[in-house]
Amino acid sequence: MRDQNRVLQTVLDANPVIPVVTIEDPDLAVELARALLAGGISAIEVTLRTAAAIEAIKTIAKTIPEIAVGAGTVLTPAQYALAATSGARFCVAPGASPALLDAAEASAVPLLPGAMTPTEVLSLLERGYRLQKFFPAEAAGGIAMVQAMASPIPAVRFCPTGGVTAQSAFRYLSLPNVICVGGSWVAPETMLQSRDFSGITHLASAAAGLRVRERKA
Ligand code: 3PG
Repeated sequence: MRDQNRVLQTVLDANPVIPVVTIEDPDLAVELARALLAGGISAIEVTLRTAAAIEAIKTIAKTIPEIAVGAGTVLTPAQYALAATSGARFCVAPGASPALLDAAEASAVPLLPGAMTPTEVLSLLERGYRLQKFFPAEAAGGIAMVQAMASPIPAVRFCPTGGVTAQSAFRYLSLPNVICVGGSWVAPETMLQSRDFSGITHLASAAAGLRVRERKA
């Protein structure tokens, strides 16, 4: 596998929160990316759940290279390839099937694969994935579950995503095995639809301020 840690680590280290967005209108993508950057967030995960997602990824990648645009909800090798050719700098998956991992390992674009149980975490670690998405974080045991994996599996650091809020994010980020969190609260669909970009900048700024100062090994 290719340098999953080095490439992804740079993106995840720089951002305590990775905004997860579902974009219906690709014309909003550039302004959204600018709003996040203005708030101090330099990554965005665009979920492949809408027809507009690939267009949005292409536009952000071409127009705002300062932000690391990732493709989220990548479920198949075909989606992986499409995301990579569209300019995604990383891919995120809710889980990890063997076919998806093969696609990731054949690509220059790194994958943040999802895991929920210690066995899934260990299976991914065996393939070299030291950075994993813990998903769906709140439903799968939340902070207590992530904390419980820190001592037995210290080699893996997580990006808990799914039900994380502005309120719970800091507690996740205080754990030694959490590199960042993901969540949709930073760029809510309602704010996007109403083009409230200054509101999104405000939320991004609060999210960027959640950085735990003492860097973790
Ligand atoms: C998702 O599934 O969209 C992401 O995990 C974000 O989840 P959230 O809306 O609970 O933050």
